[in-house]
Amino acid sequence: MLIFKGMTGDDLDEVMELEKASFSTPWTRGMYRLELEKREGCYLTARWKGELAAYGGMLLILDEAHVMTLAVREDLRRRGLGARLLLELMRNTEEMGARFFTLEVRRSNRAAIELYGRFGFQIMGERKHYYLDNLENALIMWTEDITSAEYRRLLDDMWRRYGDVGS
Ligand SMILES: CC(C)(COP(=O)(O)OP(=O)(O)OC[C@H]1O[C@@H](n2cnc3c(N)ncnc32)[C@H](O)[C@@H]1OP(=O)(O)O)[C@@H](O)C(=O)NCCC(=O)NCCS
Repeated sequence: MLIFKGMTGDDLDEVMELEKASFSTPWTRGMYRLELEKREGCYLTARWKGELAAYGGMLLILDEAHVMTLAVREDLRRRGLGARLLLELMRNTEEMGARFFTLEVRRSNRAAIELYGRFGFQIMGERKHYYLDNLENALIMWTEDITSAEYRRLLDDMWRRYGDVGS
């Protein structure tokens, strides 16, 4: 069964391993330690049979939840884990006061753009040369107000589709 928990310092050995495997400019352990201290942060791990399968984090700024990171172990991708984790993060940050969700994503990251698109994130802008390793542009994506009737329907659909993943 997939178990979600708040990320702690004890998770960081495994998180760093998945981080390095997932991102071309991985965050450092120090960066994670700082993030985990923030009261407005929500960082979750998803464990499968005790092992780290995925993790993700959001940071709440007023009523905007910024998706800071999201990674699924490569051998477990395309099984709905990313979507299930996103649902969990959204539920938690909504309880903390989030009304809008936003993120930056590499223009070339088709998997992530498709995933966020499913959740109603729309491309609202682009930052030129945002990523310093290859000067790739970042797409800026936003949801509408998640308390709107339309977004509630979308989220209900996502729960129906992905809510049972890992149970
Ligand atoms: C992006 C990522 C988190 C997706 O995780 P995942 O568990 O594979 O995604 P899911 O299985 O939950 O996918 C849900 C939906 O997203 C879309 N999607 C996910 N991966 C996709 C891919 N490779 N190509 C196209 N669509 C994709 C599909 O619509 C999918 O639904 P479907 O499988 O029913 O068609 C994963 O690819 C990853 O860890 N990538 C490396 C780190 C990263 O880029 N993180 C995002 C930073 S912003």
